[in-house]
Amino acid sequence: LSIRASSYADELVKTAKTVASPGRGILAMDESNATCGKRLASIGLENTEANRQAYRTLLVSAPGLGNYISGAILFEETLYQSTVDGKKIVDVLKEQGIVPGIKVDKGLVPLAGSNDESWCQGLDGLASRSAAYYEQGARFAKWRTVVSIPNEAAWGLARYAAISQDNGLVPIVEPEILLDGEHGIDRTFEVAQKVWAEVFFYLAENNVMFEGILLKPSMVTPGAECPVRATPQQVAEYTLSLLKRRIPPSVPGIMFLSGGQSEVEATLNLNAMNQAPNPWHVSFSYARALQNTCLKTWGGAAENVEAAQQALLTRAKANSLAQLGKYTG
Ligand code: 13P
Repeated sequence: LSIRASSYADELVKTAKTVASPGRGILAMDESNATCGKRLASIGLENTEANRQAYRTLLVSAPGLGNYISGAILFEETLYQSTVDGKKIVDVLKEQGIVPGIKVDKGLVPLAGSNDESWCQGLDGLASRSAAYYEQGARFAKWRTVVSIPNEAAWGLARYAAISQDNGLVPIVEPEILLDGEHGIDRTFEVAQKVWAEVFFYLAENNVMFEGILLKPSMVTPGAECPVRATPQQVAEYTLSLLKRRIPPSVPGIMFLSGGQSEVEATLNLNAMNQAPNPWHVSFSYARALQNTCLKTWGGAAENVEAAQQALLTRAKANSLAQLGKYTG
């Protein structure tokens, strides 16, 4: 049945199913050094490798994290990094039953000849990088592009997805539609329909095996500056209509980003989407909505590590319940 000759086909399907397992989702901890620097600055810490290592050690060694988290997306530095006590971070994740993943895009740059649009770099040399990441223990990948021009973004995502599958990595396909703006929820819905139509057109053109991918969409919400806010039920209704119209049921998992929503808002919206059965596993791949309180609680002090881990576990458990549609607040 496989439309793709990848020698990894069976493993890709298995990895995707493991990451999309009931009651679990993804911890996105793949902040680039620049973004991690911003997070550390918010708690008054310098952006040194030692501080990034201390923070990431705290995250991956939270006891029992694997009950709620099936995969962790790492920045390249972390894939090769050890914990403060010298264990490989990849090994700590595996012991927790968490699949290690790797961010492979190289970020956005201005698109020449366009009207302030951007495109996402990283396709050059991606095959050999992916093979090396697999060797190092990664089993899935993430490519995040901000959608500026839909077909440009979709083409890059599809090439990345095909290259990942050729090298044994399940690609997370993430066309991020930014929340900025005053537009209402209907406008977001319209744009998202256009984007996902393009993405699946190019995924098919590139013979990507849908059973071996994961998606990371933005939820359909009003723009961040829109005065009319939406309830979790409305977000769920719009977002599920979008998915039903655009995403084939062969795709095993839909792992939403939090995109600047508050921790509780992200949980409530996910919970609302799981009030009835879906054809896919509808779950989370949050960075900020899992980490905000954890980071603040830590504040860079060794004596706060345990409390910070508890804060992470609280959010992870809440989202685990939301994945099952059982979050009650
Ligand atoms: P947020 O959940 O903070 O939006 O981050 C998810 C992510 O990995 C974006 O690429």
